[in-house]
Amino acid sequence: MHSKNLLSRRNFFILAGAAGAGLMEGCSKSPRSQVEYSGTAIEILERQHGVNRRALAILHKIKNGINAQMAISPEVAGGAVEIIRTFLIGCHQAMEEKYVFPVFGASQQTAELIAVLRKQHAAASQLAEILKPLCADFSQNDQADRRKAVNMIHLLTYMSDAHESWEDTVLFPRLRADISEKSYDGLTAQLEAAETQFFGPRGYQETIQKIATLEQSLGIGNLASFTPQPEDLS
Ligand SMILES: [Fe+2]
Ligand SMILES: [Fe+2]
Repeated sequence: MHSKNLLSRRNFFILAGAAGAGLMEGCSKSPRSQVEYSGTAIEILERQHGVNRRALAILHKIKNGINAQMAISPEVAGGAVEIIRTFLIGCHQAMEEKYVFPVFGASQQTAELIAVLRKQHAAASQLAEILKPLCADFSQNDQADRRKAVNMIHLLTYMSDAHESWEDTVLFPRLRADISEKSYDGLTAQLEAAETQFFGPRGYQETIQKIATLEQSLGIGNLASFTPQPEDLS
């Protein structure tokens, strides 16, 4: 039995309501917020990476909770995996494959890297599909399923951290170096349109709201919670 129940379904709904109310209040005061997130192609891709990293940090926290034999709410675990499936895979990776990777054509300088990135996209998709049913009910005491979920989350977060770091530091800077300003502007317009088409005009903000709710339910609702405590540093 799991004695610790910090991530229970009831706690999740209480926190979800509080976080959602606060965030909705904040959004209603800002009618211009729909356009606040636009930027050039690299900015769009990198802020999407920011969303992905927050979703992956949630999975990392869930992994620690499973290892500590906590009962994990299906809403929290399933919600985190759903954000990975919809935003990271269904939107971000799909946009990269449709609009970003083809920009480099048959360039030998990037071909090998892009082949690896494509393979990792496929692996992330497979891992998310494996995690989906595993995360449907974390309250069960099936230790084999819990170990499998921990392993799959580790594989996904380990790979995705490296994947996005290489895109940020190696591939995306080449968008400025390898293509004309006009083509870059065209790519920016394509990415903006694709994101809006996939989610609707408020999709990005709604995803951030969902992430904030999950973060609050896991006790990582503010950045300061990631800072080591003085006793950790001695
Ligand atoms: Fe990617
Ligand atoms: Fe990416």
